[in-house]
Amino acid sequence: MPPVAKELHEQHIERVVNEALMSSKLKFKELNAIAATVKPGLPMSLLVGMGYGKKLAREHNKPFIPIHHMEAHALTIRMIEKVKFPFLVLLISGGHCLLNLVQDVDKFLLLGQSLDDAPGEALDKFARRMKLHILQEYSSMSGGRAVEVAATKGDPNAFEFPMSLAHYRDCNFSVAGLKNTARKYILKLEKTHEVEPDQIVPKMEDLCASFQLSIARHICHRVQRAMEYVSLRELLPPDEEKTLVVSGGVACNKFIRGCVEQVCLEMGYRLLAPPPHLCTDNGAMIAWNGMERWKAGKGVIDPSSPEFDEVDIQGRCILGEDMREDVAEANIKCKWVKLKI
Ligand code: KG4
Ligand code: ZN
Repeated sequence: MPPVAKELHEQHIERVVNEALMSSKLKFKELNAIAATVKPGLPMSLLVGMGYGKKLAREHNKPFIPIHHMEAHALTIRMIEKVKFPFLVLLISGGHCLLNLVQDVDKFLLLGQSLDDAPGEALDKFARRMKLHILQEYSSMSGGRAVEVAATKGDPNAFEFPMSLAHYRDCNFSVAGLKNTARKYILKLEKTHEVEPDQIVPKMEDLCASFQLSIARHICHRVQRAMEYVSLRELLPPDEEKTLVVSGGVACNKFIRGCVEQVCLEMGYRLLAPPPHLCTDNGAMIAWNGMERWKAGKGVIDPSSPEFDEVDIQGRCILGEDMREDVAEANIKCKWVKLKI
């Protein structure tokens, strides 16, 4: 609910900033710059953060650095690991699904993104439809995590799912068809077994495992094509280690990560992921992105410049140069890495 989110942001932003300064034993005058997210996201929440960030920049005469939320997710790994540009990044969460080539702090190529629900959103809706929350074991977990745990007790090959976007030789994502197939299985099970509203369908674990596999397989296919595309267009240096970074809430899923890791192994990539608390949304990644930009002198705005007043929020905004047409035109047919389940 955007107005509630806005109110909570307003109530807490000052305290959160002051607590962060206190715990790091720093004063405003010791800061190099102020960074705040300006895109993409809920406009009402973005306005609170940007407004407060600009106010601080003005009051303390510090440079202001506007941040793209997804750029911050993509660069977080550099806070904890030595990762040189360029590298591939897969961002999978409840709100987004992206495949990008990161060429520099401010230079991204967009290879693919979600055409409908993000994978986390699909897992959350599926878990709710399966009523997993009524079981004590899953009641406190996110939908995605609940599906992951239930799936460990099921057979991923029990239910058949279609291959999403099989006829589109691009790197975009779609989970609508998979969601629909799952919904049909649930309806059929409910009908056949006369399942009551407060009951779980039989074979619940099998269905969780099969649905999770269908999402993992879809993600793997798009990742593999992205790897083939960057190789075809010679976008990665040939003699250096190739890296795929995966982040976002769904990157916490060990099964999906294990599948992506198999693709990496076959394709000669190393797979890196930030620890779970840095995979999900956090403030440190925005500060880190600010520092990367400040060090590189990119997008750093003086509060006395005319540009400063022009900085504004953007609810929607793709990440980087849009290469999706070129990816489709490359028409890459892949021989899929066979996943060992
Ligand atoms: O990145 P995130 O914390 O927030 C945004 O969406 O921005 O991601 C939250 C999503 C939720 O949809 C949640 O169900 C999913 O990540 N998630 C998982 C797991 N843990 C969290 N999905 C699959 N497996 C998990 N272990
Ligand atoms: Zn996020």
